Amino acid sequence: MLEKIKLWNSKKTKEGSQEGIGELDKNSIPQHIAIIMDGNGRWAKKRALPRIAGHHEGMKVIRKITRIANSLEVKTLTLYAFSTENWKRPKVEVDYLMKLPEEFLSTFLPELIEENVRVTMMGDEGEIPSHTLNAVQKAMEQTKDNTGLQLNFALNYGSRSEILQATKDVLKDVKNGIISEEDITDELFSSYLMTKSMSDPDLLIRTSGEMRLSNFMLWQLAYTEFWFTDVLWPDFNEQHFIQAIEEFQRRSRRFGGLQSEES
Ligand code: IPE
Ligand code: IPE
Ligand code: MG
Repeated sequence: MLEKIKLWNSKKTKEGSQEGIGELDKNSIPQHIAIIMDGNGRWAKKRALPRIAGHHEGMKVIRKITRIANSLEVKTLTLYAFSTENWKRPKVEVDYLMKLPEEFLSTFLPELIEENVRVTMMGDEGEIPSHTLNAVQKAMEQTKDNTGLQLNFALNYGSRSEILQATKDVLKDVKNGIISEEDITDELFSSYLMTKSMSDPDLLIRTSGEMRLSNFMLWQLAYTEFWFTDVLWPDFNEQHFIQAIEEFQRRSRRFGGLQSEES
Protein backbone atom coordinates (compact mmCIF):
# COMPACT_ATOMS: atom_id res chain seq x y z
CA MET A 1 0.00 0.00 0.00
CA LEU A 2 1.26 3.44 -0.91
CA GLU A 3 1.78 5.53 2.19
CA LYS A 4 3.14 9.00 1.46
CA ILE A 5 5.36 11.00 3.73
CA LYS A 6 5.83 14.63 2.92
CA LEU A 7 9.18 16.16 3.79
CA TRP A 8 9.66 19.75 4.75
CA ASN A 9 12.68 21.98 4.87
CA SER A 10 13.63 22.41 8.54
CA LYS A 11 14.32 26.13 7.95
CA LYS A 12 11.31 28.40 7.57
CA THR A 13 11.11 30.94 4.76
CA LYS A 14 11.11 34.69 5.48
CA GLU A 15 7.31 34.63 5.46
CA GLY A 16 7.41 31.94 8.15
CA SER A 17 6.10 29.07 6.03
CA GLN A 18 7.91 25.79 5.44
CA GLU A 19 8.97 24.63 2.01
CA GLY A 20 8.17 21.07 0.90
CA ILE A 21 11.30 19.20 -0.24
CA GLY A 22 9.82 15.99 -1.49
CA GLU A 23 7.34 13.21 -1.04
CA LEU A 24 8.29 9.61 -0.39
CA ASP A 25 6.48 6.32 -0.08
CA LYS A 26 7.04 5.28 3.52
CA ASN A 27 6.79 1.61 2.58
CA SER A 28 9.65 1.50 0.13
CA ILE A 29 12.43 3.40 1.81
CA PRO A 30 15.77 1.74 0.90
CA GLN A 31 16.93 -0.31 3.88
CA HIS A 32 20.60 0.14 3.13
CA ILE A 33 22.02 3.21 1.41
CA ALA A 34 25.71 3.41 0.52
CA ILE A 35 27.39 6.70 -0.41
CA ILE A 36 30.69 7.43 -2.16
CA MET A 37 31.24 10.89 -0.73
CA ASP A 38 33.33 12.47 -3.48
CA GLY A 39 34.34 15.97 -4.55
CA ASN A 40 35.73 17.52 -1.37
CA GLY A 41 38.99 18.50 -3.05
CA ARG A 42 37.27 20.15 -6.02
CA TRP A 43 34.90 22.01 -3.70
CA ALA A 44 37.91 23.49 -1.92
CA LYS A 45 39.78 24.24 -5.15
CA LYS A 46 36.82 26.23 -6.49
CA ARG A 47 37.15 28.45 -3.45
CA ALA A 48 40.96 28.63 -3.58
CA LEU A 49 41.09 26.77 -0.25
CA PRO A 50 43.35 23.86 0.70
CA ARG A 51 41.89 20.40 -0.01
CA ILE A 52 41.53 19.71 3.70
CA ALA A 53 39.01 22.56 3.97
CA GLY A 54 36.80 20.51 1.65
CA HIS A 55 37.12 17.46 3.87
CA HIS A 56 36.21 19.54 6.90
CA GLU A 57 33.11 20.91 5.17
CA GLY A 58 32.20 17.40 4.02
CA MET A 59 32.17 16.21 7.61
CA LYS A 60 29.26 18.53 8.41
CA VAL A 61 27.25 16.95 5.60
CA ILE A 62 27.65 13.53 7.23
CA ARG A 63 25.77 14.87 10.23
CA LYS A 64 22.86 16.17 8.13
CA ILE A 65 22.52 12.99 6.09
CA THR A 66 22.76 10.76 9.17
CA ARG A 67 19.91 12.65 10.79
CA ILE A 68 17.59 12.46 7.83
CA ALA A 69 18.42 8.79 7.14
CA ASN A 70 17.67 7.97 10.76
CA SER A 71 14.40 9.88 10.69
CA LEU A 72 13.34 8.01 7.54
CA GLU A 73 14.10 4.73 9.34
CA VAL A 74 16.80 3.66 6.91
CA LYS A 75 18.46 0.65 8.57
CA THR A 76 22.05 1.10 7.38
CA LEU A 77 23.95 4.05 5.95
CA THR A 78 27.41 3.06 4.68
CA LEU A 79 29.76 5.97 4.00
CA TYR A 80 32.96 5.57 2.00
CA ALA A 81 35.35 7.72 4.03
CA PHE A 82 38.80 6.41 3.02
CA SER A 83 39.78 3.82 0.44
CA THR A 84 42.77 1.46 0.51
CA GLU A 85 44.06 3.54 -2.43
CA ASN A 86 43.76 6.91 -0.66
CA TRP A 87 47.14 6.33 1.05
CA LYS A 88 48.66 7.49 -2.26
CA ARG A 89 47.70 11.08 -1.42
CA PRO A 90 50.13 13.62 0.11
CA LYS A 91 50.92 12.95 3.77
CA VAL A 92 49.30 16.17 5.02
CA GLU A 93 46.02 15.17 3.42
CA VAL A 94 46.17 11.57 4.67
CA ASP A 95 47.02 12.80 8.19
CA TYR A 96 44.07 15.16 8.12
CA LEU A 97 41.69 12.47 6.84
CA MET A 98 42.85 10.22 9.70
CA LYS A 99 42.07 13.00 12.18
CA LEU A 100 38.55 13.53 10.85
CA PRO A 101 36.84 10.56 12.54
CA GLU A 102 38.07 11.86 15.92
CA GLU A 103 36.94 15.36 15.12
CA PHE A 104 33.57 14.17 13.88
CA LEU A 105 32.96 11.91 16.85
CA SER A 106 34.18 14.39 19.46
CA THR A 107 31.56 16.82 18.19
CA PHE A 108 28.71 14.50 17.24
CA LEU A 109 28.96 11.36 19.37
CA PRO A 110 26.61 12.71 22.09
CA GLU A 111 24.06 13.53 19.39
CA LEU A 112 24.44 10.06 17.81
CA ILE A 113 23.90 8.44 21.21
CA GLU A 114 20.84 10.58 21.84
CA GLU A 115 19.43 9.75 18.41
CA ASN A 116 19.87 5.99 18.96
CA VAL A 117 22.39 5.64 16.09
CA ARG A 118 24.77 2.65 16.12
CA VAL A 119 28.25 3.33 14.76
CA THR A 120 30.18 0.56 12.99
CA MET A 121 33.26 0.42 10.79
CA MET A 122 34.49 -1.78 7.97
CA GLY A 123 38.01 -1.75 6.59
CA ASP A 124 41.50 -2.98 7.25
CA GLU A 125 42.21 -1.90 10.83
CA GLY A 126 45.91 -2.82 10.67
CA GLU A 127 47.10 0.30 8.86
CA ILE A 128 44.83 2.81 10.59
CA PRO A 129 46.65 4.98 13.17
CA SER A 130 45.75 4.02 16.72
CA HIS A 131 44.37 7.48 17.59
CA THR A 132 41.85 7.13 14.74
CA LEU A 133 40.94 3.56 15.53
CA ASN A 134 40.53 4.29 19.25
CA ALA A 135 38.04 7.06 18.54
CA VAL A 136 35.97 4.85 16.24
CA GLN A 137 36.09 1.90 18.62
CA LYS A 138 35.00 4.08 21.51
CA ALA A 139 32.01 5.25 19.47
CA MET A 140 31.21 1.67 18.48
CA GLU A 141 31.33 0.57 22.09
CA GLN A 142 29.17 3.43 23.33
CA THR A 143 26.51 2.93 20.69
CA LYS A 144 26.53 -0.87 20.37
CA ASP A 145 23.10 -1.36 21.94
CA ASN A 146 21.40 1.37 19.94
CA THR A 147 18.55 0.21 17.75
CA GLY A 148 18.18 3.07 15.26
CA LEU A 149 20.22 3.72 12.13
CA GLN A 150 23.48 1.78 11.69
CA LEU A 151 26.07 4.36 10.60
CA ASN A 152 28.74 2.25 8.95
CA PHE A 153 32.04 3.93 8.04
CA ALA A 154 34.13 2.35 5.29
CA LEU A 155 37.56 3.37 6.51
CA ASN A 156 40.67 2.01 4.82
CA TYR A 157 38.21 -0.11 2.87
CA GLY A 158 38.92 -1.80 -0.46
CA SER A 159 36.56 -4.30 -1.99
CA ARG A 160 39.17 -6.41 -3.75
CA SER A 161 41.17 -6.90 -0.58
CA GLU A 162 37.92 -7.70 1.28
CA ILE A 163 37.06 -10.40 -1.31
CA LEU A 164 40.61 -11.81 -1.25
CA GLN A 165 40.57 -12.00 2.53
CA ALA A 166 37.17 -13.73 2.48
CA THR A 167 38.51 -16.23 -0.06
CA LYS A 168 41.50 -17.01 2.15
CA ASP A 169 39.23 -17.44 5.20
CA VAL A 170 36.91 -19.77 3.29
CA LEU A 171 39.90 -21.85 2.14
CA LYS A 172 41.23 -22.06 5.69
CA ASP A 173 37.86 -23.30 6.97
CA VAL A 174 37.69 -25.91 4.18
CA LYS A 175 41.21 -27.09 5.05
CA ASN A 176 40.30 -27.33 8.73
CA GLY A 177 37.14 -29.27 7.95
CA ILE A 178 34.84 -26.56 9.35
CA ILE A 179 33.04 -26.34 5.99
CA SER A 180 33.21 -28.42 2.83
CA GLU A 181 33.52 -27.21 -0.76
CA GLU A 182 29.81 -27.94 -1.39
CA ASP A 183 28.88 -25.50 1.40
CA ILE A 184 30.33 -22.55 -0.53
CA THR A 185 27.26 -20.70 -1.74
CA ASP A 186 26.50 -17.07 -2.43
CA GLU A 187 25.10 -16.78 1.09
CA LEU A 188 28.01 -18.49 2.79
CA PHE A 189 30.57 -16.38 0.93
CA SER A 190 28.67 -13.21 1.92
CA SER A 191 28.99 -14.25 5.54
CA TYR A 192 32.81 -14.03 5.21
CA LEU A 193 32.68 -10.41 4.05
CA MET A 194 32.89 -7.31 6.24
CA THR A 195 29.20 -6.70 5.62
CA LYS A 196 28.15 -10.06 7.06
CA SER A 197 25.49 -8.68 9.38
CA MET A 198 24.01 -6.27 6.79
CA SER A 199 21.73 -6.57 3.81
CA ASP A 200 23.22 -5.53 0.45
CA PRO A 201 22.78 -1.83 -0.37
CA ASP A 202 19.51 -1.02 -2.14
CA LEU A 203 20.75 2.37 -3.28
CA LEU A 204 24.23 3.67 -4.08
CA ILE A 205 24.82 7.40 -4.31
CA ARG A 206 28.02 8.92 -5.72
CA THR A 207 28.54 12.65 -5.72
CA SER A 208 30.83 14.86 -7.84
CA GLY A 209 29.96 13.51 -11.29
CA GLU A 210 32.37 10.56 -11.29
CA MET A 211 30.73 7.39 -12.55
CA ARG A 212 32.84 4.59 -11.18
CA LEU A 213 32.96 2.41 -8.10
CA SER A 214 36.58 3.05 -7.06
CA ASN A 215 36.89 -0.37 -5.41
CA PHE A 216 33.71 0.00 -3.33
CA MET A 217 31.50 -2.98 -2.38
CA LEU A 218 31.95 -4.85 -5.67
CA TRP A 219 30.23 -8.01 -4.41
CA GLN A 220 27.47 -6.28 -2.46
CA LEU A 221 26.41 -3.88 -5.25
CA ALA A 222 25.44 -6.66 -7.69
CA TYR A 223 21.76 -5.58 -7.80
CA THR A 224 21.93 -2.14 -6.21
CA GLU A 225 20.28 0.88 -7.88
CA PHE A 226 22.88 3.56 -8.72
CA TRP A 227 22.26 7.29 -8.48
CA PHE A 228 24.89 9.79 -9.59
CA THR A 229 24.90 13.53 -9.14
CA ASP A 230 27.28 16.32 -10.19
CA VAL A 231 26.83 17.95 -6.78
CA LEU A 232 30.10 17.94 -4.79
CA TRP A 233 29.88 16.23 -1.40
CA PRO A 234 30.24 19.43 0.71
CA ASP A 235 27.24 20.87 -1.21
CA PHE A 236 25.12 17.73 -0.83
CA ASN A 237 22.07 18.21 1.37
CA GLU A 238 18.83 16.61 2.58
CA GLN A 239 17.01 17.68 -0.56
CA HIS A 240 19.47 15.81 -2.80
CA PHE A 241 19.16 12.77 -0.56
CA ILE A 242 15.37 12.81 -0.87
CA GLN A 243 15.70 13.27 -4.62
CA ALA A 244 17.84 10.11 -4.81
CA ILE A 245 15.27 8.13 -2.81
CA GLU A 246 12.42 9.51 -4.95
CA GLU A 247 14.23 8.30 -8.06
CA PHE A 248 14.91 4.93 -6.39
CA GLN A 249 11.18 4.58 -5.72
CA ARG A 250 10.42 5.12 -9.41
CA ARG A 251 12.81 2.36 -10.51
CA SER A 252 11.62 -1.15 -11.21
CA ARG A 253 13.92 -3.72 -9.62
CA ARG A 254 13.66 -7.06 -11.37
CA PHE A 255 16.70 -8.99 -10.09
CA GLY A 256 16.85 -10.80 -13.41
CA GLY A 257 13.17 -11.77 -13.38
CA LEU A 258 10.10 -9.98 -14.71
CA GLN A 259 7.90 -7.38 -13.13
CA SER A 260 4.86 -9.00 -11.49
CA GLU A 261 2.39 -7.61 -14.10
CA GLU A 262 4.50 -9.05 -16.95
CA SER A 263 4.56 -12.64 -15.69
C1 IPE B 1 36.30 12.56 -1.36
O1 IPE B 1 36.73 13.74 -1.90
C2 IPE B 1 36.89 12.26 -0.02
C3 IPE B 1 37.91 11.22 -0.03
C4 IPE B 1 38.30 10.51 -1.05
C5 IPE B 1 38.54 10.95 1.24
P1 IPE B 1 38.07 13.86 -2.74
O2 IPE B 1 39.16 14.23 -1.82
O3 IPE B 1 38.30 12.65 -3.55
O4 IPE B 1 37.72 15.09 -3.68
P2 IPE B 1 38.07 15.26 -5.21
O5 IPE B 1 37.57 14.04 -5.93
O6 IPE B 1 39.57 15.38 -5.30
O7 IPE B 1 37.37 16.50 -5.62
C1 IPE C 1 36.61 7.20 -3.64
O1 IPE C 1 36.94 8.46 -4.09
C2 IPE C 1 36.96 7.04 -2.20
C3 IPE C 1 36.18 7.82 -1.25
C4 IPE C 1 35.18 8.60 -1.50
C5 IPE C 1 36.57 7.65 0.13
P1 IPE C 1 38.32 8.79 -4.82
O2 IPE C 1 38.31 10.23 -5.08
O3 IPE C 1 39.44 8.25 -4.03
O4 IPE C 1 38.18 7.94 -6.16
P2 IPE C 1 38.91 8.09 -7.56
O5 IPE C 1 40.38 8.09 -7.30
O6 IPE C 1 38.45 9.37 -8.15
O7 IPE C 1 38.44 6.91 -8.35
MG1 MG D 1 37.73 12.07 -5.39
